[in-house]
Amino acid sequence: MVIVLDFGGQYNQLIARRVRECNVYCEVHPHTMSLEEIRKMNPKGIIFTGGPNSVYGDDSPSCDKGIFELGIPVLGICYGAQLMNHLLGGRVSTAPVREYGKTEVHFDTTGKMFTNVSGTSVCWMSHTDYISQPAPGFEIKASTPVCPVAAAENVEKGLYCVQFHPEVMHTQEGKKMLANFLFDICGCAGDWKMDSFVETSIQALRERIGNGKVLCALSGGVDSSVAAVLLSKAVGKQLTCVFVDHGLLRKNEGDEVEEVFGPNGPYDLNFIRVNAQKRFYEKLAGAVEPEDKRKIIGEEFIRVFEEEAQKIGAVDFLVQGTIYPDVIESGLGKSAVIKSHHNVGGLPDYVDFKEIVEPLRLLFKDEVRAAGRELGIPEKLISRQPFPGPGLAIRIIGEVTEDKVRMLQDADAIYREEIAKADIPNKPDQYFAALTNMRSVGVMGDERTYDYAVALRAVTTTDFMTAEFAELPWELIGRVSSRIVNEVKNVNRVLYDCTGKPPATIEWE
Ligand code: XMP
Repeated sequence: MVIVLDFGGQYNQLIARRVRECNVYCEVHPHTMSLEEIRKMNPKGIIFTGGPNSVYGDDSPSCDKGIFELGIPVLGICYGAQLMNHLLGGRVSTAPVREYGKTEVHFDTTGKMFTNVSGTSVCWMSHTDYISQPAPGFEIKASTPVCPVAAAENVEKGLYCVQFHPEVMHTQEGKKMLANFLFDICGCAGDWKMDSFVETSIQALRERIGNGKVLCALSGGVDSSVAAVLLSKAVGKQLTCVFVDHGLLRKNEGDEVEEVFGPNGPYDLNFIRVNAQKRFYEKLAGAVEPEDKRKIIGEEFIRVFEEEAQKIGAVDFLVQGTIYPDVIESGLGKSAVIKSHHNVGGLPDYVDFKEIVEPLRLLFKDEVRAAGRELGIPEKLISRQPFPGPGLAIRIIGEVTEDKVRMLQDADAIYREEIAKADIPNKPDQYFAALTNMRSVGVMGDERTYDYAVALRAVTTTDFMTAEFAELPWELIGRVSSRIVNEVKNVNRVLYDCTGKPPATIEWE
């Protein structure tokens, strides 16, 4: 295993990811990790990440110099490279020319990290300071016209540093360089697979939890499902999963979740389904403002969950399906509240528990999916699109009623079914139907109708922070439209939402 020591850079988890792509297990830990803890983990290599600070800053993150004497190879990247040189007697200065973006770097390919790398290769730079003089014992192995020490090594001590970012895609031969570090320098075997993540986590969870009681809020979404199954494999009957059906799920979703995770499914989750539909509809009656609706649902959810938790009694651990992008987002500074997000995972305060367990905290979404497949969770659940905690309530404009929920469930099921069947090269990243609060006049079978309009939404996006509307074929939209007006009562018009984010958001509320 390899330890990535986090000095606050934005690509930290990306480094871990690249290491894992080389089939080497890797964990990210804070830079404050003690020598003793590092020794205990017995890593084959250590990587220092970049970071926003200058090594001369008052509160700049640092580490114990003893780390360089452990006999474990260390690779410093960007700030990590500067820190390594600074601590070992080199000099770091403000670069006369700041380098940012794709940069041609000249390599001395006798450098151990640069075996089979081209003499000149494009790398991603992002720095204001640079190493103006490497620490004693280091040999320079790469440079640019404005950065004299783009890479250096002290082979005897097993210390390597690069000013650029090998983990970023734009560094053309970055993967090769990391592989050289991992295999030739650290001697990693490269035989780790995602299933070892599953195995390692199960083992670690068992040790941590012992005989403790564990509670998990299961939504049926990918993250909470994978977390629940992982916990169940680790501690079996000590786990209880509570699934709150708030009546705002997609068509048949509650039953589908129960089928997989309930008592007749393949997992032993002590699954409790709480049918709280009525409660939610009652609380939502009369609420029309999106933020009011979101808050009502969030609060009611906690109340239902709390009641169930009380029946179970005090628990030791509460499971959350937090994944790495959630960790990054919560680390961002203060931004305007566009929507109060409600996640089933975001409960506590109210529940009597000792510790939170977040087994997926270091994984990206696709890695969570890979773990889910490894755990045998059905593909249908694994490849699900994001579905918001407040569910269909934020896709029904204005007041939510049971009738409107049913209308939207039916329209949405038709839309999803037709997209699934359609022969289109790239499926949109998220698509759903929304029920507008608008009624209009139509004619059906010679009769006047005065019914609702359904809006179809489909977007392409990578990070869900910005999105473009998907250009679905008209013929597909036409088919969905005619099925919806024919099959869903009280809908007589279908609209296609062709707005990006910004200025719109993906959900309608
Ligand atoms: P917006 O509408 O903000 O959505 O553009 C961005 C992504 O977030 C999802 N979303 C939510 N997910 N709880 C969630 O777990 C929420 O309250 C929530 N609101 C929006 C949305 O489906 C999209 O993928």
